[in-house]
Amino acid sequence: MAHTVAVVVGSLRKESFTLKVAHALAKLAPPSLKLEIVTLHGLSFFNQDLEATPPADWVSFRETIQKSDAVLFVTPEYNRSIPGVLKNAIDVGSRPPGKSSFLGRPIGIVANSPGALGGVCAAMNLKQSLPGYSGPIMQQPEIYLNGVGDAFDDKGNLVKEALEKVLRQYADAFAAWVDKHKK
Ligand SMILES: Cc1cc2nc3c(=O)[nH]c(=O)nc-3n(C[C@H](O)[C@H](O)[C@H](O)COP(=O)(O)O)c2cc1C
Repeated sequence: MAHTVAVVVGSLRKESFTLKVAHALAKLAPPSLKLEIVTLHGLSFFNQDLEATPPADWVSFRETIQKSDAVLFVTPEYNRSIPGVLKNAIDVGSRPPGKSSFLGRPIGIVANSPGALGGVCAAMNLKQSLPGYSGPIMQQPEIYLNGVGDAFDDKGNLVKEALEKVLRQYADAFAAWVDKHKK
């Protein structure tokens, strides 16, 4: 049976390149992976005062992650880091202490940017933060997609061959990673 992967998308923008990358990955991934796109609209701010009675949207996000065999973060870069919505989702998912929903789940990180550096700082930021509350993070291959601004047509289809190639390579490597490290 295919392994389910929660693909957490770090942008809320309607025409988000990150979302388009996530959809492209879902199409390119090998049959051993079933990618499910998780957007973060409506996920309320983490507030430690609410931990005893968590809001329904936190519970639902945590359950989505817990039902998955693996998690793939697909993120843009904001000010050399990850966007606040993604950080908030990570904070929500990482609690309660010792019971992070990400624990034990193989993790992949895909950063992208229309700019030249491909969101490398956002990816590094995640790599720095995740080890304390997640499962094994795939370190190779690394993927920082630059120049994504002209990678999609007006229907959101991926039209850049070079990008398709690296996404396919990444998806294949991640499938092997999930197979090896799945709980
Ligand atoms: C607040 C903000 C900060 C940004 N900082 C960076 C940055 O540090 N590095 C970068 O490559 N692009 C940066 N950008 C440009 C984003 O890469 C670009 O807006 C991209 O389209 C956002 O991803 P999305 O298309 O998935 O929404 C920034 C954009 C915003 C709105």
